[in-house]
Amino acid sequence: MRPGVLAPEDIVRLEEGDPARVVLLDQRRLPDEEVELECRSAAEVAEAIAQLAIRGAPAIGVAAAYGLALAALRGEDLAHAEQVLAASRPTAINLFWALASMRDDPTPERARALHREEVERCKRMAAHAADLFEPGTRALTHCNAGGLATGGYGSAVGALRTAWERGLLERVVVDETRPLLQGARLTAWELETAGIPHVVIADAAAASMMARGEVDLIVTGADRIAANGDTANKIGTYALAVLAAHHDLPLYVVAPTSTVDLATPTGAEIPIEERDPGEVSTRFPARNPAFDVTPAELITAIVTENGVRRAPYAESLAA
Ligand code: MRU
Repeated sequence: MRPGVLAPEDIVRLEEGDPARVVLLDQRRLPDEEVELECRSAAEVAEAIAQLAIRGAPAIGVAAAYGLALAALRGEDLAHAEQVLAASRPTAINLFWALASMRDDPTPERARALHREEVERCKRMAAHAADLFEPGTRALTHCNAGGLATGGYGSAVGALRTAWERGLLERVVVDETRPLLQGARLTAWELETAGIPHVVIADAAAASMMARGEVDLIVTGADRIAANGDTANKIGTYALAVLAAHHDLPLYVVAPTSTVDLATPTGAEIPIEERDPGEVSTRFPARNPAFDVTPAELITAIVTENGVRRAPYAESLAA
């Protein structure tokens, strides 16, 4: 791994040696240190997901796929391994989608194909999303929906990369993303590596930047998109969507079809992860919902690898 330059296998991979292991770049240590974490059982992969050593909906799915393949190589009870992995985080549908896709063929080859396909999906959706940018666009993004979050290239950050390559992007405003700072630590690091101009802001600064006309559009990833288009993403996305509507700015959600959950009718049925309150405050009582749901009517378009989908989402997503 060269510092700062990430191939998909630098983010997460399965090594079949003795002992077999899933190796992942520990995202908790970024951007200060590029350190790999080795997981030697499905339970250790589940723990790495739960502790955010690897995070972001598509990357969680890829890691779980490798975790199940690792369990098969080690002769673990596969039904139990799947249960343990499925219990790691509740909101990102990609986790359950990836485990279901691996069930009939829990092999390293299948897991690697799933990883490759997710990265391909990212490149395709990024190309569609970049069509929504105009020359000189100043985009605001939240959390990290980059290569780290997807196993390579990125969804929302992939769109920013493609728009930059096409000469359409002026700069990116990066929400720091309290409480765990995925924006300030991970998105800023990825943008710096890609040579894309960016500026990190406190989450609370987004409103006034929009009011001053310093933002042209908002682009985010998603953890789960319900059949009606309601979208769960990192806590704070809903607030941005309300602000975007107030300032008449478009909000684009960029996510692979593996994030679309047609079996969940609306956002009200999406389970929202409550994390350790200690991530918010160790001194006072705290609450720590990790995601919120943005109602479909506040989303200008949902971009998948299949193209740009607009309301009514119940029809456009199903198609
Ligand atoms: O808690 P995290 O860091 O896993 O949250 C990640 C997000 O909310 C991302 O925006 C989402 O998973 C999309 S990643 C392409």
